[in-house]
Amino acid sequence: MFIHQVITIDGPAASGKSVAGQVLAEKLGYLFVSSGHFYRALAWAADRYKIDLSKSEVIARWLEQLSFQHKIIDSELHLFIDGQDVTSHLNDEVVNKLVSPLAAIPVVRNFLFTRFRSLADQYDLVMEGRDIGSVVFPEAKYKFYLDASPEVRARRRANQGIIDSVTQRDQQDSTRTTAPLVIPEGATVIDTSNLTIFQTHQAIEQMMEKIKILS
Ligand code: DC
Repeated sequence: MFIHQVITIDGPAASGKSVAGQVLAEKLGYLFVSSGHFYRALAWAADRYKIDLSKSEVIARWLEQLSFQHKIIDSELHLFIDGQDVTSHLNDEVVNKLVSPLAAIPVVRNFLFTRFRSLADQYDLVMEGRDIGSVVFPEAKYKFYLDASPEVRARRRANQGIIDSVTQRDQQDSTRTTAPLVIPEGATVIDTSNLTIFQTHQAIEQMMEKIKILS
């Protein structure tokens, strides 16, 4: 059991997890962690070092010797691979393409599972992802699952100017054998499809109320 508080937010791509998580973390004074950033940083590195993703032993050896660190800069988590801050590369097109297949590899998930758990030894967390309430922190007291229709989510990514096939990634993330995207047991489900920014803030207030009631 971890000593710090952990609030989990899961859901598919562009369901509003990051915005909700960031606001919630700021209100509570917790550290906001996008677990997808860790998968993205590794996808960036796998491309950079031309790692053969079809060979688990190669990936395991590579991860063992990889220098992968985080630093909090201006309240934000930055990720460093071999000393380079890769935060600005996390939405590169090649990363969007590689990240789902990479995240389906058990040795990669095990590697990050340990990292995520150890963050809760150091900080109170709001962590968002695909399996945070179901696998990484199943014992968390406060769990949320955000959803929105595929059309709305594709539009959100396009409006951000990001080339990202959310439907294809959803399909890969939900059908993989290891830690597929599911609604975690005990999670409060919020559909953000028709929410304006103002209403999203209202939804966050509801999350805060829920946390107060449960604490
Ligand atoms: O949240 P995101 O779009 O940045 O996540 C990028 C990819 O990482 C996503 O397609 C699936 C994977 N991922 C995962 O498998 N498990 C998580 N907890 C977070 C992300």
